[in-house]
Amino acid sequence: MKIITTKNYYDMSRKAANIISAQIILYPNSVLGLATGSTPIGIYTQLVKWYDKGDLDFSDVSTVNLDEYCGLPPSDSQSYRYFMQKNLFQFVNIKAEHIHIPYGNAPDIEKECSRYDHLIENLGGIDLQLLGIGHNGHIGFNEPNIAFEKMTHCIELNQSTREANSKYFGALDQVPQKAITVGIRLIMQARKILLVVNGKDKKAILEQALFGPVTPEVPASILQMHPNLTVVVCD
Ligand code: F6R
Repeated sequence: MKIITTKNYYDMSRKAANIISAQIILYPNSVLGLATGSTPIGIYTQLVKWYDKGDLDFSDVSTVNLDEYCGLPPSDSQSYRYFMQKNLFQFVNIKAEHIHIPYGNAPDIEKECSRYDHLIENLGGIDLQLLGIGHNGHIGFNEPNIAFEKMTHCIELNQSTREANSKYFGALDQVPQKAITVGIRLIMQARKILLVVNGKDKKAILEQALFGPVTPEVPASILQMHPNLTVVVCD
């Protein structure tokens, strides 16, 4: 595991964006596993800047997002599909057919989960997985549980996760109860993992995740077992 400590959010974003850029430059047809939430926004802004300068080309890149709220169509401004379009995809030359995000409003959610697992397998797996961490140690929407859930699945979001995300929805009761998330298996099979962590309030959970026991009660603790984990952290 490699831990890079950075001075501030901008520095964290730049350093993490550098790692993603290197991946795209060295392997232009990379499969990137992407995350949403507040932490990666600065990374996406930085990637767009480098794209505008002509330093990056997304034309052969494929992306697979980690998760999506159940019940929200891609056009909903709170959907993760919308978030990705707004923060990254609209600004770069990624091909629409190379963008993959679970369909939160699929009529058969179980079928959608298995479609998503197969899709990522057919792409050859994930080359670089970008992750944030929740205050309860979740990665993707793999919430604390009695066992690690391996496959893409539909999850009942924890109250604390819904409360944390209610700032985007305006009110807690607007936050969907469920989400689809990639499971632990495809995350751990990613060839590289880049975990980005911002904020003093994440210090304790990060400490537990990286140095505490590996337990499904702290889903991010499984990352200790990954052979190529880089953590970029700022406080
Ligand atoms: C989002 C995701 C989540 C977030 C986590 C941290 O796609 O997978 O695990 O990374 O909830 O969110 P922020 O960055 O908003 O603190």
